[in-house]
Amino acid sequence: MNIFKLQDFTIEQINEIIDLAEEFKAGKKVDYQGKKVVTNLFFEPSTRTHYSFEKAAMNLGCKTQNLEAENSSIRKGESLYDTVRFFESIGVDAMIIRHPQKEYFLELQGKIETPMISGGDGTGNHPSQSLLDLMTIREEFGSFAGLKVVIVGDVVHSRVAHTNFEVMKKLGMEVYTSGPEIFEEPGYNFVEFDKIIDKVDVVMLLRVQYERHEKNFNISTQLYHNLYGLNMERVNQMKENAIIMHPAPFNRNVEIGDEVVECDKSRIFKQMANGVFVRMALLNMVLGDE
Ligand code: NCD
Repeated sequence: MNIFKLQDFTIEQINEIIDLAEEFKAGKKVDYQGKKVVTNLFFEPSTRTHYSFEKAAMNLGCKTQNLEAENSSIRKGESLYDTVRFFESIGVDAMIIRHPQKEYFLELQGKIETPMISGGDGTGNHPSQSLLDLMTIREEFGSFAGLKVVIVGDVVHSRVAHTNFEVMKKLGMEVYTSGPEIFEEPGYNFVEFDKIIDKVDVVMLLRVQYERHEKNFNISTQLYHNLYGLNMERVNQMKENAIIMHPAPFNRNVEIGDEVVECDKSRIFKQMANGVFVRMALLNMVLGDE
């Protein structure tokens, strides 16, 4: 079993994964007793996704391997397929793969039998991030249908936005996007931030993905913050029970004010905590019984 895109899952399946994550959060134990090996293959920088997958594997009693891409045969020109095929040959039980190429998995599908879970494919998708976002939202509001969310920032380059926009809509949420017009994704309900901020249940902020830009995005951080950033003035316009989310890493005082990061409405660190439980659920799904 592979997990590359959350769009491949039904509403029921998504809720079941979150149910399992909640069971882990409540103390459910699964212990593979060191008999399963989870290998992390990260070809792009990562802090949260990488190390929370590793923590999830450890919580399940798995052993882990972490490819140091900079120090591997990738530097000698080895392809993604050949690298993945190597780890399959030595008998690892699951692989977590993050790669800068959108849909990198198309060249692996049907050729690799070891379960693979995507930790993000370029600007494409980010299934485990979306699941931890959804778990955090469901914990807060109990269900999804009818909730309003605005995703604000570099939408067009964000795999988090792409997965969330599609999956949240499928779950019956009303999804808007906002931010600089040059980051608008066609068909994504683009609105002005200040016109929607007081109407949504969730404000989800995104980092400007400079590393994925083809053209320079030249605007001062101060101006970005004033026009599109979440400052306390905007927080005060939010609905009483509305929450703030961000996949992180965040840039303080750019898309999010320093004082907003840990304010009452922020669920950012809760998202990170939930990330371990959804990743335990995903690993448990692909690894099977103890
Ligand atoms: C995101 C990513 O890598 O797509 N981070 C994450 O996984 N938590 C978002 C980002 O890098 O801005």
